[in-house]
Amino acid sequence: MDGNGRWANERRHTRVWGHIRGARVVNEIVRSASEINLKALTLYAFSTENWNRPKEEVQTLFRLLKKFLIREGENIVANNVQFKMIGDISHLNEETKNLIKKIESESSDCDGLKLNFAFSYGGRREIVDAVNSFVAQNPGKPLTEDIISSRMYRPDAGDVDLMIRSGGDQRISNFMLWESNYAELFFTATKWPDFTSKEFVQIIDEVAKRERRFGALSKSANIKQEGNNAEKEKMEAISHGN
Ligand code: FPP
Repeated sequence: MDGNGRWANERRHTRVWGHIRGARVVNEIVRSASEINLKALTLYAFSTENWNRPKEEVQTLFRLLKKFLIREGENIVANNVQFKMIGDISHLNEETKNLIKKIESESSDCDGLKLNFAFSYGGRREIVDAVNSFVAQNPGKPLTEDIISSRMYRPDAGDVDLMIRSGGDQRISNFMLWESNYAELFFTATKWPDFTSKEFVQIIDEVAKRERRFGALSKSANIKQEGNNAEKEKMEAISHGN
C-alpha cells in the first residue's frame, strides 16, 4: 500500500495525513475482496524496515491499526472474514495485542476471505522463522519445500497469485518472498489513498487474462507438441508396418 507520503506531500499535508487517508482505502478493499469471493488478501501495512521511520509516523501507523481493529472487528466476523496478523507484533501495546487476539479468535471459524494484515512483517524473517521452527522440533531432519511452505505464517492462504503494488515503484520490498515464487506482479502508478475497489477489480480482471505457465510450456505449445507426438506415432506405426 505505497504512496501515502507522496500523496500527502503533493497536497501540502504531512506524511501522517497520507496514512490516515490510506487507512480509509483499506476498508474499501477488504469489502471488495470479500464481495468478489477472493480466497485470500494480504495487506502490507508495516514492514520490518519501516521501524526506521520517524517515531511520529510509526506511532500513527500503530494508532491506525488499533482504530481499524476497533472499528472493523465486528464487521470482519459479520462478513465471514477470517482475520490474522502476520509479523512480529511483540512491540504493540497490550490493548492492541488483546484486540488482535480477540478478532483472530472470534473470526477463526469464518470460512470466507482469509484476510492477513502484515505488520512489522518481513519476507526474509518469515522464511527464517519457518526454518527455525522446523529445525527446533526436528533436529537433523532435512528440510523440504513443502515443509517450509507449511511453516509460513499463514500456510492455509496458499501461494500468492497476484501481487499489486501501488505508488509507481516496481519492486517487491521484502513482501511474501517465499509465497510469491510464481506470483503475477502488477505495479500501478496510483498512490494508495487514490486506489479504489474499481481499480482493484480491474487489475484482477486484467491479470486473469495472462497465461500462467509456472515454468512449463504454454497451452498452445502443448497442443502443438501433442500434434507432433501424434505425427511421430503415425510415422512409427508406418515404419513398423501397421
Ligand atoms: C507506504 O507508503 C505505506 C506504509 C508504510 C503504510 C501503509 C499503511 C496504510 C495504508 C494505512 C495503515 C492502515 C491500517 C489500518 C494500519 P509510504 O509512506 O512509503 O509512501 P511514499 O512512498 O509516498 O513515501
